[in-house]
Amino acid sequence: MHLLRNLLLFVLHVIPGQLCLGLELDPHTSNVQQTQQVSQERCKRFPGDSNWPSDNQWQQLNVSLGGVLLKPVPPAAACYPNHPSFNPTTCNFLLTNASRTTFYLDDPLTVGTQWTQGNTCLASRNPTGNCTQGGFAAYVVNASSVSHVQLAVNFARSNNIRLVIKSTGHDSFGRNTGAGALSVWTHHLKDFEFIPGYMQPADSYIGPAVRLGAGTQVWEAWNHGADLNITLLTASCPTVSYGGYLAGGGHSPLSSKYGLGVDQILSLEVVTADGKALIADPGGPNNDLYFALRGGGGSTYGVVTSFVIKAHPAINLTIASFSFTLGRTASGPGSDPTITNSSAFWNGFDAVFRFGVPTADAGGYLWTNGIPTANATSFLMQARVQLPGFTPSEAATFVQPLLDELGDLGIPVVLTTPPTTSPFSARTPSGGGGFGPGNGRYASRLFPRTDFEDPVRFRKVMDAARAAVEAGYVFHGLNMAPTEEAGDVDKHHPPAVNPVWRTAIMHADVFDPTNFGTVTPEQHKAAHARLDSVMGPIREATPLGGSYYNEGDVEEPGWQRSFFGSNYDKLVAIKKKRDPGQLFWAPATVGSEGWTVEAMNGLPSQNGRLCRV
Ligand SMILES: Cc1cc2nc3c(=O)[nH]c(=O)nc-3n(C[C@H](O)[C@H](O)[C@H](O)COP(=O)(O)OP(=O)(O)OC[C@H]3O[C@@H](n4cnc5c(N)ncnc54)[C@H](O)[C@@H]3O)c2cc1C
Ligand SMILES: *[C@@H]1O[C@H](CO)[C@@H](O)[C@H](O)[C@H]1NC(C)=O
Ligand SMILES: *[C@@H]1O[C@H](CO)[C@@H](O)[C@H](O)[C@H]1NC(C)=O
Ligand SMILES: *[C@@H]1O[C@H](CO)[C@@H](O)[C@H](O)[C@H]1NC(C)=O
Ligand SMILES: *[C@@H]1O[C@H](CO)[C@@H](O)[C@H](O)[C@H]1NC(C)=O
Ligand SMILES: *[C@@H]1O[C@H](CO)[C@@H](O)[C@H](O)[C@H]1NC(C)=O
Ligand SMILES: *[C@@H]1O[C@H](CO)[C@@H](O)[C@H](O)[C@H]1NC(C)=O
Ligand SMILES: *[C@@H]1O[C@H](CO)[C@@H](O)[C@H](O)[C@H]1NC(C)=O
Ligand SMILES: *[C@@H]1O[C@H](CO)[C@@H](O)[C@H](O)[C@H]1NC(C)=O
Repeated sequence: MHLLRNLLLFVLHVIPGQLCLGLELDPHTSNVQQTQQVSQERCKRFPGDSNWPSDNQWQQLNVSLGGVLLKPVPPAAACYPNHPSFNPTTCNFLLTNASRTTFYLDDPLTVGTQWTQGNTCLASRNPTGNCTQGGFAAYVVNASSVSHVQLAVNFARSNNIRLVIKSTGHDSFGRNTGAGALSVWTHHLKDFEFIPGYMQPADSYIGPAVRLGAGTQVWEAWNHGADLNITLLTASCPTVSYGGYLAGGGHSPLSSKYGLGVDQILSLEVVTADGKALIADPGGPNNDLYFALRGGGGSTYGVVTSFVIKAHPAINLTIASFSFTLGRTASGPGSDPTITNSSAFWNGFDAVFRFGVPTADAGGYLWTNGIPTANATSFLMQARVQLPGFTPSEAATFVQPLLDELGDLGIPVVLTTPPTTSPFSARTPSGGGGFGPGNGRYASRLFPRTDFEDPVRFRKVMDAARAAVEAGYVFHGLNMAPTEEAGDVDKHHPPAVNPVWRTAIMHADVFDPTNFGTVTPEQHKAAHARLDSVMGPIREATPLGGSYYNEGDVEEPGWQRSFFGSNYDKLVAIKKKRDPGQLFWAPATVGSEGWTVEAMNGLPSQNGRLCRV
């Protein structure tokens, strides 16, 4: 109570618009010795509890925040006739056009994987039941400054309520949402500054860099790159934001050339559980956070408000695309022939993946999909060989040996359109093409290079991949080699990202076609068990592999080692030191084992109280 009163007294003296707590601090001050009051209550406080903050307390928080506190209702409430927000026009827009716009990205609650919220308010023409808040946050701070974040962190800690962090909502674990939580929404942290001659304190990097807000999205980074004639490493998907991307690793079509997203980070600013805004870089006292926040996970050690990342010279990305189908009718030649010979198809499937090794070694990124039809009687193989810095004719020459090999197998692939080339930082319209929620589920695997180069091991890998496709799953491969050399990693200050990435030649996702919005809890669990059963042989074929944290399965078996490898124990120690009261909690994050969401139906959703195990 004492702490809370001090906080309120403090904030009442601060005039909105002049909240500059972050700037008042010595950025290198380490505050870990300051004791944080750790609550012994079994659960975080929940709306309706007698000790839940009063409306008056929330209002005072809102005043101190300068009015950016929101109490949003889920957008799909518009589809529910019993709900005060019922509005058929809005509902129709949600069902037809919203995903093609920034509507959902500009919504404070929406998350990309709806079942993690509990599916308590789905957009539908004929909704069943009533729309409830479910696993969505109770309140949201629409943060546009460091002090907004600090006020949110202090309020949640002082009142022992759940805190979540959401940026774009792309995460599929439910790490970005939580019932009864106060959410820090980082989407509007978009400051940008070009630093032509950045000098890292440890002197390991001197060169151009940019400082960008953690809510900056890929499409915005491309536009900044186009404006400045530079390249910033990004995800492929224009709507992803740096906050989660850099927290979990970050792969890119440029990864074989420049390493992972985390290899770009020179410094960052983070608000820790004690409410302090700290600078973490290799030179200062917060180098434990500098380590952990480069791949050790989001929502774990603090709220990152901005990053300083390397800027590279402008470069074009050149892409050769083709596909082939195993079906009943033969056609071709062309860039997408249909063949009838099943063994030729699966030999071609192997050949494409094998080509991932020379592609990565040439600095490239091989994007593939093995796609079954609904009844798994016909299969499509799609490939895009992505080559940074190649001209179209160089790219055509580069892929010809693979096309010749496919031709010899009886798959007459010919590039009917020449490889396309365009600046990696191509100017991109506002919003990056839109984003909307779905109800899927997937799992990831990182494949060590040795499993591709040894023919016996490769056979096992490809048999497991084929079995997944034949069982009805999409197998989405991304061949790359984000080695320490590519990332120019400072050996004295390596990042926390899973070391398996450094020896990997492929990251692949296995997508479950089940719509997890329309299944019963029992069907959900059965579908997940089937997904896990096709992942089993893939894991067995890659015993030294791992799983990419940012695209993994929240129920990945042995997730601690799969996601973080040999860095797990060190990360737990940092978590304990920096956040002893577990203010930052999200599923399958470092050190999260002592708490669980008491969700209904035994599903791993965020629709329930967060309590000690
Ligand atoms: C369509 C699609 C395409 C993708 N493409 C790629 C790709 O090409 N390469 C790749 O590497 N990944 C890719 N991903 C995975 C992506 O990197 C992760 O989903 C990532 O977590 C998204 O981060 P976000 O900030 O956009 O999303 P959010 O869901 O808002 O955040 C993700 C996680 O990070 C935490 N977080 C976000 N911001 C902060 C912050 N400022 N401080 C602390 N924690 C924070 C959140 O709490 C949450 O736990 C893709 C995902 C999707 C859905
Ligand atoms: C916070 O204050 C602003 C501005 O006064 C207001 O518009 C908003 O509704 C308030 N938020 C809540 C949750 O009351
Ligand atoms: C959806 O977008 C189309 C094309 O922009 C427009 O014509 C239509 O009116 C929109 N529908 C709704 C429901 O907003
Ligand atoms: C839905 O809400 C209405 C009106 O608020 C209420 O009468 C009804 O009982 C609710 N239905 C369920 C299933 O909770
Ligand atoms: C959030 O704040 C930004 C300004 O930082 C504003 O443009 C936006 O409209 C706000 N969003 C909501 C939902 O209040
Ligand atoms: C942009 O940068 C590239 C690579 O450094 C350089 O070759 C090119 O001349 C630059 N273009 C302009 C317009 O400055
Ligand atoms: C099918 O393709 C394989 C090569 O992958 C070849 O050995 C075999 O002869 C082909 N079968 C027919 C019927 O063409
Ligand atoms: C399988 O599905 C395709 C369409 O996806 C359809 O054309 C085909 O007839 C189906 N085959 C069987 C055996 O059901
Ligand atoms: C990059 O791509 C653009 C657009 O396709 C093209 O005009 C330009 O010549 C390319 N630059 C290089 C260096 O290949």
